[in-house]
Amino acid sequence: MTDSMARFKEVDLEEKKVLDAGTGACGMTKILEDKGAEVVSVDIERERMIDCRSQTESTDFLQADLSNMRFIESESFDHVFCKGTVSALSINKTLFVTSVLRELHRILKNGGQLTIIDYYPFEEESSPVPLDEHQVELWRLEKAVFELLGEGHLEEYSPELLKDELRSIGFGDVTHSIFRDELPWSDELLKEHEEVILENIELIEEEYLGAALKKKLRDIISSTEKKKVVSGAQYELNAKR
Ligand SMILES: C[S@@+](CC[C@H](N)C(=O)[O-])C[C@H]1O[C@@H](n2cnc3c(N)ncnc32)[C@H](O)[C@@H]1O
Repeated sequence: MTDSMARFKEVDLEEKKVLDAGTGACGMTKILEDKGAEVVSVDIERERMIDCRSQTESTDFLQADLSNMRFIESESFDHVFCKGTVSALSINKTLFVTSVLRELHRILKNGGQLTIIDYYPFEEESSPVPLDEHQVELWRLEKAVFELLGEGHLEEYSPELLKDELRSIGFGDVTHSIFRDELPWSDELLKEHEEVILENIELIEEEYLGAALKKKLRDIISSTEKKKVVSGAQYELNAKR
């Protein structure tokens, strides 16, 4: 297992044209800018970018869907970073990951690099690391609540599946490595998940269902009080156009 961010520090991005695909809470944009890259940051949600814009100096922010970036010229980027975005694609609308990967292939220069960093699916049978039962239970509950409300939710892809997709689109040198955050979930992160789940349970109209889901949530949270919740596996996938 390798520490992805430690390896990332070695990547030379000086004066490179880089796309930060999925700005989110600005986790990557500032890092890319500080490495001397000419950054374009794209997110489907405008609110996300407003806060991020105040933390950066020269980054170009665009509100757009990654599956359709017609305003970006073909073969114009040296590197695309996609951190935590692939698993978030299904939150806003049903979207085939292939349509995004094709678009990233189109905008990359020949020889350009795609880096995807994301969570490995939380499935006991396929996970490359032992999973924390509390995290899996909480994750399942969160997704079940969103399903009941008819809302989109995170959908993790296995790097093996993405690698096949990337090769069929025309990417080469496709490799991946697995890593894991060594630190357990902080109490704040646990609280954040608990609050999101609870807020959404409140929206369920059927009272008996809401009560049962709240009890399940209380049970999971009280069992995490006895021990820390450790993170699942993540992967870093690299491919060349
Ligand atoms: C977990 S956040 C990304 C985090 C960020 N890259 C980082 O490193 O901190 C995922 C982001 O992907 C964005 N996103 C999801 N689907 C998208 C799409 N089709 N087009 C553009 N952005 C999208 C979401 O709005 C969200 O801000």
